[in-house]
Amino acid sequence: MHFNIAFIGFGTVGQGLADILVEKKNMLAEKYDFHYTVVAISDTMKGSVYNETGLDLIKILALVKKGEKLDTYPAGIKGMDSVTTIKKTNADTIVEVTYTDIKTGEPALTHIKTALSLGKNVVSTNKGPVIKQARALIDLAQSQNAQYSFEGVVLAGTPALNLAHYTLAGNNITGFRGILNGTTNYILTRMEEGMSYDDALKKAQSRGYAETDPTGDVEGWDALGKVVILTNVILGKHLIWEDVKRNGITKLTKEDIKRAKAEGKRWKLIGSAEVQPNGSVQAQVQLEKLSLNDPLAGVGDAINALTYYTDELGPVTIIGPGAGRRETGFALLIDLLNINRTFIEKSMKTGTQ
Ligand code: HSE
Repeated sequence: MHFNIAFIGFGTVGQGLADILVEKKNMLAEKYDFHYTVVAISDTMKGSVYNETGLDLIKILALVKKGEKLDTYPAGIKGMDSVTTIKKTNADTIVEVTYTDIKTGEPALTHIKTALSLGKNVVSTNKGPVIKQARALIDLAQSQNAQYSFEGVVLAGTPALNLAHYTLAGNNITGFRGILNGTTNYILTRMEEGMSYDDALKKAQSRGYAETDPTGDVEGWDALGKVVILTNVILGKHLIWEDVKRNGITKLTKEDIKRAKAEGKRWKLIGSAEVQPNGSVQAQVQLEKLSLNDPLAGVGDAINALTYYTDELGPVTIIGPGAGRRETGFALLIDLLNINRTFIEKSMKTGTQ
C-alpha cells in the first residue's frame, strides 16, 4: 500500500519518525509492502513546504538540523498553514505531532477533525485530542472509512495500547498501575544519585523527554493525561481530567529521597486507576514510596512501566521507553504499519489491490 504523508508539526517526534522512515524505507517496502511519499510538512516555527510529487526527506532533515526554515527547500509551494495543508494537499495520511494541550486538545483537535472529515487517516502522538474526545474521533474516522491511531500517547513506542487491544483481547481489564512519565522518572533517578532537581530537569529536556512546557511533566499533568486515556480507551469508562487526583514531584526534597533510601525504599510517580464494584473508577497520580522489591521500584531513567490487572492472567506488565525522539517517532510507525495492514487485509477481501 502506498501513502502520501503530510507532517503537521515537525519537532522532535516528527523528525524521529522521519529518520526511521528514511533509514528503513527498503525494509518497510520489502517486509510489510509499506510504501510512502512525504508530500508536505507544516510547522508553526519552521515554516511549510508542499510538493505533490514528494519531498526529499533526507534534504529536509539536513536543513532542519542546521536550524534553517522549510521555506529554504529548493522546490514546492511554501507558506501553507496546518489546516490548509490538511485540506488542500494530496496527502491521504496526516502525521499530527503539534504541541500538546491536555486541557483543550487544541490545535491538534481541529487538525485531526479536519483530516478525518475529509477521509484522511491520522496517526498522532498528541495526547490532548485523545483525552478530550477519543470516542468521537474514533467514530468520526469509522464513518469516513479512515483510521485514527495513537499508540504513542501513553508509553511512546512501547506498545501499551496495542497490547491491551490485541494481545490481551478477551481479558476483562479492571485496572492499571504504572510509571507513565519519563521525565519525572529520569529526574527521580538522577536525584537519587545525588544530582540537583534543576540539573536533572535540564538533562531530561536536552534528551527530548520533557514536554515543551516541562511543568506538564513535573506537576503530574502528563501522567494524569495518560491515566485519563487508559481509563477511557482501555477500561471503557468516561473520565475527564478534573476527575483524577494529582500530585507532581516538585515538592519532593533531597531529604525525602535520602530518608526513603535509608528505609530501603524509593519514590516513584505512579498513575493508576481501578474499577470499583459499583462500576465507578478511582484514578490518581501520586508519589508513592515503594519497597525495593516492588517491580516498579526497579524501573529507572526515562523508562516507563505499566501493569494491567486482567481476569485471565492476573497482573501483566510491559516495560520500555516512554519518551524520546526516536522512541516516540517509532510509535507513529506502529500506527502506520497497522493502517497499512488493515488496508492490505481489506483489499485482499474485496479483491482490490
Ligand atoms: N514528556 C513525556 C514524558 C513524553 O516525559 O514521559 C511522553 O509523553
